[in-house]
Amino acid sequence: MSGQLNGRFVRNAWYVAAWSSELGRSLFSRRILGEPVVMFRTTDGTPVAFVDRCPHKLAPLSRGELVGDLLQCGYHGMQYDSSGKCVRVPGQPPIPPAARLRKFALFEKYNAVWLWAGDPAAADTSRIIDIPQHGKPGWGLVDGQYLHFPTSYLNLTDNLVDPAHTSYVHKRTIGNSGGEDVPVKVEHDEGHIVASRWVTNAEPVPIMKTYGGFKGNIDRWQYYHLHLPSTSYVDFGAVDTGGELTERRRREDSAPSPTIFSLRKPQARRTISGFTCAIMRSALPRSMPILRASTGRRSRRIASFSRPSRSSRKRPACANT
Ligand code: FES
Ligand SMILES: [Fe+2]
Repeated sequence: MSGQLNGRFVRNAWYVAAWSSELGRSLFSRRILGEPVVMFRTTDGTPVAFVDRCPHKLAPLSRGELVGDLLQCGYHGMQYDSSGKCVRVPGQPPIPPAARLRKFALFEKYNAVWLWAGDPAAADTSRIIDIPQHGKPGWGLVDGQYLHFPTSYLNLTDNLVDPAHTSYVHKRTIGNSGGEDVPVKVEHDEGHIVASRWVTNAEPVPIMKTYGGFKGNIDRWQYYHLHLPSTSYVDFGAVDTGGELTERRRREDSAPSPTIFSLRKPQARRTISGFTCAIMRSALPRSMPILRASTGRRSRRIASFSRPSRSSRKRPACANT
């Protein structure tokens, strides 16, 4: 993929920095790719993000305040405009040219604020993942969820292009023995990997038994998409067994099927925060188990699935139930 590695992270890439609802007229700080970032909205609603560090004496700007659209440092009152340029140094009329904040490019899509961590001039919004069902009639949406994992983001990235584990880890929800011996096909193009398989003429998995309304065996698909470096998109569902295993049947003939969309943000070297949402046929109840996996209480239990280890890269991590 294009982009450059800076330390352990790909900088020239889009990461979800926040849900849109998290940003307002208060200063909001979050650690992204090992760096503190301060975010807020200007008076016209535009989201803005800077490195959360005042160039004067490195005070966190998120401890300061907004004066209109100016960000005022809480230590000595220097003020920065929404481009990051310093416009006031109290008690010192000349403003040093180096008094400027590093600004990140942001873009809002899917109720999320996406942050380009590299050179703002290279920020290309067409590289943000495409979720064709988002906002379409007949599809429901549950979003605003947030999970925190004490592990390297690479573990979770690996987990979400690995449909084979569902036969063993998720026997109570999205897996069963029908998938044990079904190989996974892996394809890739520029910055995109798809791991997929169809499990045919098999007993429905537990959530499909409960919510799918199937009378007999099913043909079930799992398509796990990874958009490098850390955005994933899981599409799974089922149809009555016996027809063609085609894209059209996946889209049109399927029983209610959820699409889980996981937006992950490496926070620091050994932790990751996942922004998750589920898009599903509107017939599905919002309380179905796969969605409960994204609640705070459940997220703590998922996080504890990662056993403490000296090497965080060896820890297991799993984002589904
Ligand atoms: S540290 Fe920000 S104005 Fe001094
Ligand atoms: Fe899983």
